[in-house]
Amino acid sequence: MDSVANPVGIRLTGMDVKFHHRVKGEVYAARDVNITVAPGELLTLLGPSGCGKTTSLRVIAGFQKPSAGTVHIGDRDVTNVLANDRDIGFVFQNYALFPHLNVFENVAYGLRVRSQPQAVLEASVGDILRMVGLAGYERQMPHQLSGGEQQRVALARAIVVKPRVLLFDEPLSNLDAKLRVSMRGEIQSLQKRLGITTVYVTHDQEEAMAISDRIVVMNQGRVVQVGTAGELYRSPASIFVAGFIGRTNLLPAVIRGAAGGRLTLDIVGTAHTLDGAQTDLGSGSKVQCVMRPETIGLTPESAPGTVPGIVRSRTYLGEKTEYTVEVSRQQLFVVQFGADAERFAPGAAIGVALPVSGVQVLSGDQS
Ligand SMILES: Nc1ncnc2c1ncn2[C@@H]1O[C@H](COP(=O)(O)OP(=O)(O)OP(=O)(O)O)[C@@H](O)[C@H]1O
Ligand SMILES: [Mg+2]
Repeated sequence: MDSVANPVGIRLTGMDVKFHHRVKGEVYAARDVNITVAPGELLTLLGPSGCGKTTSLRVIAGFQKPSAGTVHIGDRDVTNVLANDRDIGFVFQNYALFPHLNVFENVAYGLRVRSQPQAVLEASVGDILRMVGLAGYERQMPHQLSGGEQQRVALARAIVVKPRVLLFDEPLSNLDAKLRVSMRGEIQSLQKRLGITTVYVTHDQEEAMAISDRIVVMNQGRVVQVGTAGELYRSPASIFVAGFIGRTNLLPAVIRGAAGGRLTLDIVGTAHTLDGAQTDLGSGSKVQCVMRPETIGLTPESAPGTVPGIVRSRTYLGEKTEYTVEVSRQQLFVVQFGADAERFAPGAAIGVALPVSGVQVLSGDQS
């Protein structure tokens, strides 16, 4: 199957979705959502349960009418266009194959509905089944397939009609951990090969980071940040995003002064200077410092530039060792790599080197 000739973009503008809740009355499942998906891009909606991911996807698909705002696919305003006329492929969490149809007929379904001639149909289905690694499975029935194989059939069924847009709603959540990792790789390479503009929903941050060109982080119906995995990891705009993308330490601190791109703060009972930390807050302001576990260094004993700490726990994980270290009554999560990464025993008094750059400083009351 060839890649899509002219991939289209998607644009949600000022989208609200209101629902009636029996106790709370009117509730917003989506609130002033503005999202642009570039042609050929794989964009992921990421956020906790109930934040509005499925609702937003359903609006793009045309299964849910927004209470306000518009949906564009390419240059066309499809806000009032029926789902069937939007040329979209959808892969759901429970892939819902037709149980009484074999693999071939499950995949061929969309082409039959479009009255494709038998020869075209056979060529296309054969093509797509090879692509998802299921050549030879044509006559198998859904109940004879593993979860991962069923998921591939669902994927094949969605893309065989060459939709202009592909939507995924937690497609891997029914699979075991190992299969999830291999399937997400397959989805990503297939998506890149075909160049179909794709919106992918997950609440698994690792899956989102692995698969996406860009990630939209949502919370309580709103978009809270948009960026590549790296941008969100290195520069989270809020404590919520910092905690949601990757593991992190949030350390309370008080600003002491700023000069020449350097910020001095009181943190874990000591004065610490950061390079290149951005903040509009003045002296005395309470903040939270986002320190990633791999940016904190450990040394055998207190040395200049370190603060004293005690190792509270150690987990050896092969290529890395994870520690919990107590510094001034704060628990720090630290990851060390390399040959001697596991050298600090629980109970040991050590030196902890806090990072002097690459630290995000957030206002203390952000969430
Ligand atoms: N048809 C509906 N009627 C009333 N409320 C609804 C309806 N559909 C969704 N909601 C509410 O809208 C909010 C967002 O739901 P949505 O399904 O979009 O969440 P989600 O981000 O996909 O969560 P999850 O990760 O659990 O699938 C929830 O609070 C939900 O209770
Ligand atoms: Mg959902």
